[in-house]
Amino acid sequence: MYNNWDELKSACLTCTRCPLGDTRTNLVFGVGNERAEVMFVGEGPGEQEDLRGEPFVGRGGQLLDKYLGAIDLDRRENIYIANMVKCRPPGNRDPAQEEQDSCLPWLREQFRLLRPKIVVCLGRISAQRLISPDFKVTKEHGRFYEKNGVLMMGTLHPAALLRNPIQKPDALEDFLNLRDKIKEVCSNTYK
Ligand code: URA
Repeated sequence: MYNNWDELKSACLTCTRCPLGDTRTNLVFGVGNERAEVMFVGEGPGEQEDLRGEPFVGRGGQLLDKYLGAIDLDRRENIYIANMVKCRPPGNRDPAQEEQDSCLPWLREQFRLLRPKIVVCLGRISAQRLISPDFKVTKEHGRFYEKNGVLMMGTLHPAALLRNPIQKPDALEDFLNLRDKIKEVCSNTYK
């Protein structure tokens, strides 16, 4: 247990719980407002994220920023963004189960410090891990589930939208639903 974000980040920087730390360029800890009520969780850093040390800064990230902007959210102002794993899996492969298991305690600590009211899972990997192991993103995206007092929603991963642009209107609808839910349950996000 860590008392504050600085302690947590410093400890995470020296992590040796899995081999991904050996091949990464930068740790991708997370970005955003450390008091945000809304947290987004992706999968793991890609090449650009690894080079810059920030989540979602490649093409997928630019698309994510557009959806965020459409509902007046900004990665540096009123949300927090993290990933299931904090070091890049080589070649952009999916993070292995053991890598996710090793990294999950860091995410849990971020969760404990942030205490978000809403968590948005970006894509299958985080939705299946955080919402339910059999979560089907194509069928269940946009629905809110309550888990231990936190509202959780899964939506399409931005990289999947780049591959399959026909799904973009579905993603926009999820974000519009998210805006309504934020207005309902959060008091500081839209000030
Ligand atoms: N994909 C993710 O899931 N996370 C990132 O940070 C970048 C791409």
